[in-house]
Formats: sequence, structure tokens, C-alpha cells
Amino acid sequence: MCGIVGYIGYEQAAPFLLHGLEKLEYRGYDSAGICLNDGSELIVKKAKGKLEELEKLTDYGKNIHGTVGIGHTRWATHGEPSDVNAHPHLSDSCRFAVVHNGIIENYLQLKEYLTAKGVTFRSKTDTEVIAQLIEYYYQGDLIDTVIKVLSKLDGSYALGVISKENPDEIIAVRKESPLIIGIGENENYIASDVPAILSKTRRIYRLENNEIAILRRDSIRIINTDKDEVRKEEETIQWDIDAAEKGGYEHFMFKEIMEQPKALHDTVNPRIKDGRIVLDEIKLTKEQLRQYRKINILACGSAYHVGVVAKYVFEKMLRIPVEADLASEFRYRDPIVDDKTLTIVISQSGETADTKEAMKEAQRRGSHVISIVNVVGSAIATESDEVIYTWAGPEIAVATTKAYSTQLAVVYLLAIYFAEMLGTITDAEYQYYLKELEALPDKIQEILDHEENIQYLASQLFHSRDVFFIGRNIDYALSLEGSLKLKEISYIHSEAYAAGELKHGTISLIEEGTLVIALATHEPLIAKTISNIEEVQTRGAYVLCLACENHQEVGSVAQSTIFIPQTCDMMLPSLAVIPLQLFAYYVASLKGCDIDKPRNLAKSVTVE
Ligand code: AGP
Repeated sequence: MCGIVGYIGYEQAAPFLLHGLEKLEYRGYDSAGICLNDGSELIVKKAKGKLEELEKLTDYGKNIHGTVGIGHTRWATHGEPSDVNAHPHLSDSCRFAVVHNGIIENYLQLKEYLTAKGVTFRSKTDTEVIAQLIEYYYQGDLIDTVIKVLSKLDGSYALGVISKENPDEIIAVRKESPLIIGIGENENYIASDVPAILSKTRRIYRLENNEIAILRRDSIRIINTDKDEVRKEEETIQWDIDAAEKGGYEHFMFKEIMEQPKALHDTVNPRIKDGRIVLDEIKLTKEQLRQYRKINILACGSAYHVGVVAKYVFEKMLRIPVEADLASEFRYRDPIVDDKTLTIVISQSGETADTKEAMKEAQRRGSHVISIVNVVGSAIATESDEVIYTWAGPEIAVATTKAYSTQLAVVYLLAIYFAEMLGTITDAEYQYYLKELEALPDKIQEILDHEENIQYLASQLFHSRDVFFIGRNIDYALSLEGSLKLKEISYIHSEAYAAGELKHGTISLIEEGTLVIALATHEPLIAKTISNIEEVQTRGAYVLCLACENHQEVGSVAQSTIFIPQTCDMMLPSLAVIPLQLFAYYVASLKGCDIDKPRNLAKSVTVE
């Protein structure tokens, strides 16, 4: 995934472009560049590494001039991070410049074709092919040329294009990868995401697939690839600038951990009216719901971990078989899916390629798809049959926290809502679950208010090399997320294991001082989990246990215990995940890791 920004107006473009790229660095940050039309030439400056390299190269925008420009911050897919592979890419004669987010799947064939025609390529990227194709087909009309080039491309793209010939235009195109148009006064903007333009405007258009925007200083035209005018609804962004900033915290991740009570409240409470769940987004009738023989949940990473929790929750509440599937595996195993399968797709960004393609595979096989997404207007949200948005607000840290928590909350909403439709719970149970759901934000706040205990434990344990997270039933489902959180920001190797499975081999890895984090909140299996704790302790493990405050006996078994407030069994992960997020955060912080931008990662993986 990458970040695109563009400006056309009467001010010097470079400072705005650099500012915009700063707000988009979470989308990829291995290299960055800008290109300006200085009235006669296209000037490109780009640099490998974090954005500050480019800021230094351009003297913070002072040594590059022009009032029309495009910029890009990259997460490499084709061609290693380098100056030459950084965007923008110029055509051979430097008459056209392109920035691109996505993947051109047929770029090699196109590159061979152009090379045979005498075109010289500078980079190893797929993107450069676009710039060269524009030059190759250009006959004087840039829009016609861009449309012709689009017809040659297979794959996904958000594009920004400027040219020496058309100094008063920016062309922007969307297919799969997100792109918005900012509406200014005598100036206009393009960006991959809202934070890049909030300093200038709150008024935007969201481009849909195969829409082309032509920006001039005083006008914005949007057409489709048939050159038909497209009427767009103008959207006003409600986020305040702080919502996309760190708000005084040292890291976005910590800010987003602390925002979870509000994120859950914002996601749940508007959907409860007079003691009833109101899900206007869900059009499924009781009859339609009754016909489903199976529920498939498709997602990646932490969103997949929500799916594993949802498997336990839906099976318990709805008595329908549920399968939680890694999206990247699902799509290539000829899955058994038909119109009697309900598919639920979970994604924070709504742009994850594996998840999006798995969703399409399920739809091709006749399955009805409900998506749970955090980014309004994202591809998965718009292409699923129904979407329930999590209202977590912008999640900037690469390691998800508040999006994970709000996805869990939507799972509970759906489970209670569907269980009532199916008649698998009584009205008393319905009211009980609703009360517990509405109480979650305060219980999370209670945990956050005592986070110093977790900070202390992290200070004692951050030198650990191999960490095991174990649990049974819903605790096992949560252990997957606890392990990923620790791995992805502290770079400490960790594994999640079903506590009952450890003795079938992996326990051989337990030695003196091995850290085992045991989740023992699922009440029916506490005794068995305590046995598993004792098993690893006899082999030298140091056990940090998570348990509910009404089970103080666990405190006498484990070397350290973190107690969480009680709630209904299915909602325990929403509370137990908070200490795990904080533990990972403090360990990574003590190790001096780059918490918001961990190495090798990006916020949304829009490539396979
Ligand atoms: C989670 O902390 C990771 N950043 C990653 O696993 C992420 O959950 C996964 O890539 C799915 O992203 P999505 O929710 O945007 O689809």
C-alpha cells in the first residue's frame, strides 16, 4: 500500500505535498518523492528511506518550485526500496509524471512491448510502465491518452498524473486502490486518505472504480472511461484534525489503545434504541437467515483473529456451523460454498487484497457477504452485499487495536441480533447480553486506568526471547491476537497455542525461564488451564496469567497474574485483549522499537 497526494493552485505546491505525505506515511514508508511542474519542466525529487530524507533533499520544499505537483510515499511491491524505484516515475522524455498505489499485474508484458519499441526504463517498478505508456500513446489529448492506457492495464491502481504539456491539470484515476479529491478555494487536491488534506479542506469526493478526475485550479470534472460526466455526492469530513494526529500521546498505537472505550461506545450505542439492537444496515430477513447451513468468516491477521473469536461466539449463540478462514488460503482451495453459506468478511482498511479477492470468490460461488469494515467507502465495504461499519475513527498505527476491539463489538451485536431472529436465546438472555455489551467501554476504561501494573510486568519481562501464549476455547482464540501484537511491534518470537495441545510436542521447547502467557478467563475450563500452567511450570516456565477478578485462586498458581473485570463469557476477549495490547506496547517501547511503523509492515496490505 502507498500514499498519494497532489496539489493544483496558486501557492507553491511542495510544502503542502510534503505535509500531506507526512500524514500518509502509515500507508508505506520505505521511500518517497515529489514532482512539480515549474511552468516549463517537470522536476522530480525522490529518496529512499523515511520521508525526512526527502524533506532534507528538498530543503523542506524550498528548493523545488511550482504550483502543480504530485507526491508519493511507498511500500515496495515491485523493485526494492531505492531512489530510482521511488515514485513519481517519469516517461522517457520527462514529459509525463505518474504516482501509483496498487499493482499492474501485466506490467512485464507491457514493459517488453515498449522496450521492443525502443523505450528505455530506469526502474524495476510496475508503475514506470504507466508513465511510458502515456508517452507512447500521447497524441495531444492527455485525457484520451490516459483512458487508452487504462485499457491496457490489468490490476489495481490509484493514479496521479501531471504533464509538461498540460501545466494546469492533474489527472486522477481509481481502480481498486482508494483515492479522494479535496475541494478547495481556487485550489484542489488528490490524496489516498483524508489526513493528507485535512489542513486544507474537509470537502471531498471519493472516487469509485474506473472514475477519472480532471483537476484544475477552479474546477473538478469527474468522468468515467467512456468520458461520460459522473455526478458525485460531496462529502464533508467530520474528523477533527486531532483525530488523525497523535493527540499528545507518544505513539498512535497508545492513543488508539486509550481510545477503545470511545470507539466501542461509538460503534455500539447508536445501534441500540429503547433496549433493542437496530441494524438498519442488515437487510437479511428471518427466513433468509434460517436458510443458511454454514457461516464462513474470511479475513487476515488480527481481523482473522476476530473471526476465530466469532466462530466460538456464533456457534454458541446461533447453533450454526462456523468456519473462520485465512482469506489467502480460502480463495485457492476450491472452497465448498454456495447460496446456503453466509460469508462474513472482516477488514479494518477494507482494502486488503487477500480479503477482497476471497470475498469475490465467495460471491462467485453464490454466497451472500456481510462485511465488517472501518474505512467508509473502501473497496470491501462497497463490493460486499451488506456492510456494518466499525466507527473506530482513523487507525494510524500499523498494529491494530481499536479496530480489532470494535470488530469484536460488531460480532457481538450480530450474534445477539441473529440469535433473537433465530429464537436461539430468550428475551431475558437478550437483555442480559445487551447490558453486558453496553457496559464494556467502562470495564475497558477500568483496565486502562490501572495500566501501570502491566507496564511494570513488561519492564520485568521485555528481555524474553521466545514467548508462548496459551488458552482454551475463547482464550485460545484471543491468544492468537496477543501473540501477533507482541511479535509485530517488539520483534520477539512468539507462538499462540491451544493449551490442551502444548503437550503434543511443542512443550519440548519450554525450558528454564521461558515466558508463558496463560489466558484463563473462560470459566468452564479454568481448572484444565491451571493444569496446563502447572505442566509448563514444572519444566521451568515463568507464567504470566490473565484471569477474571472473581478467580483469585489463579493468583496462587502463576508467578504473576493480571485480573480483569467479569463479563459474559463471549465478551471476555474484549477485556482480556487490553492488557495484551498494553504488554506488547510497553515491551516494544522498552526495546526501543519503532512502534507505529514496525519494520517490514504497512497498515494495509493491498497486494497478494
Ligand atoms: C494487525 O495488527 C496487522 N497490522 C495485520 O495483521 C492486519 O490486521 C491485517 O493485515 C488485516 O488488515 P485489514 O484489517 O485492514 O484487512
